[in-house]
Amino acid sequence: MSLQQFKARGFRCLEELEFAPDPVLNLISGPNASGKTSLLEAIYYLSRGRSFRASGNRELIKAGAKGFTLFGEILAAGETHRAGIEVAAGERHIRINGSNGTAADLANIIPVQAIDPEVHNLIQGGPEFRRRFLDWGVFHVKHSFLGCWRRYQQALRQRNAALRMGQPDSSVQAWDAELIAAGTEVDACRREYFDAYLSLLSPIVHEKLPFDSICVYHRGWPEDQSLSEALHQSRARDRAMGSTQMGPHRADLAVTVHDRRARYRVSRGQQKLLAATLVIAQTRFVADHGVTDLVLLVDDPAAELDRDNRGRLFDLLHSIPAQMFVTALEPEDLPWSDQGLMFHVEHGKLSSRL
Ligand SMILES: Nc1ncnc2c1ncn2[C@@H]1O[C@H](COP(=O)(O)OP(=O)(O)OP(=O)(O)O)[C@@H](O)[C@H]1O
Ligand SMILES: [Mg+2]
Repeated sequence: MSLQQFKARGFRCLEELEFAPDPVLNLISGPNASGKTSLLEAIYYLSRGRSFRASGNRELIKAGAKGFTLFGEILAAGETHRAGIEVAAGERHIRINGSNGTAADLANIIPVQAIDPEVHNLIQGGPEFRRRFLDWGVFHVKHSFLGCWRRYQQALRQRNAALRMGQPDSSVQAWDAELIAAGTEVDACRREYFDAYLSLLSPIVHEKLPFDSICVYHRGWPEDQSLSEALHQSRARDRAMGSTQMGPHRADLAVTVHDRRARYRVSRGQQKLLAATLVIAQTRFVADHGVTDLVLLVDDPAAELDRDNRGRLFDLLHSIPAQMFVTALEPEDLPWSDQGLMFHVEHGKLSSRL
């Protein structure tokens, strides 16, 4: 079980919403613009501290309101936590069990994955979408990752500032030792995680999808060089660009379909199916590696998919080890309309359906 109680106030079209979700399956139906995606987005925000849509906090605040608050009662590893986020006047406050908390604390307590309207960006979008996706899993499975990633970010920021200001080589290189040590650790965590994840993903792709796809991890600098060598070699380019060009901040996952980059190769519906498969495999993988109490948000799974692909997606979602929140225009669009709890949204208000 995961999210036991959820409240949202002033978030998008949700003026005041409160409900006690089912521990396994929640089906949320309602017409266009009723607030289904907004509800999933609010749950996502409580875990991730950001939206899955490309929106700043200002757009998330209900028109005419001063801010929004989200609150959840979460059962994690046998303990109940009370977590809240308040966003108002350009500031964000996180409270966990009565004390101030951080976004990383929230992510730890309530691990949320989403198959949201932007999920195709995992295939179509820039490397940052795939890095964020990869790092979510690495963060939950490799506990040393957050520390080395923060150290790396800090050294990278300082090094880039020195490059931008045209400081002498000695000032730029002063950050290299930390950048190399932390960056090498970041890569090791990602690689180990990715290799294990791939051994679960590959058979799923081969068995369940109607096309062959391969996913390869690129660490952000050439495989035949150490990070130290790569930094040395790209020094002139770093100077010209005013920022560090090599390192784990440039990592990516190359997703290919029939040996061609998937973004050029597959249709929008296929992108959705493939991206959803990556997410579902990751949810299963993380659950297999000790992360319990997962939440999976699935927004309008039927959209953009033909009957066969819809069947494939529903099959992949079957008995997923996570508390699911699934939206649809009509409950009949989903294969599980006789299971879990059913809710209806209309004008941002949620009601139970019997
Ligand atoms: N900041 C905001 N304040 C008030 N309303 C907003 C805000 N942001 C978005 N909305 C409105 O919220 C409504 C619900 O949007 P949402 O995307 O949640 O609908 P939906 O039920 O998912 O619809 P669809 O079936 O079309 O996907 C829309 O009418 C949208 O214009
Ligand atoms: Mg929607």
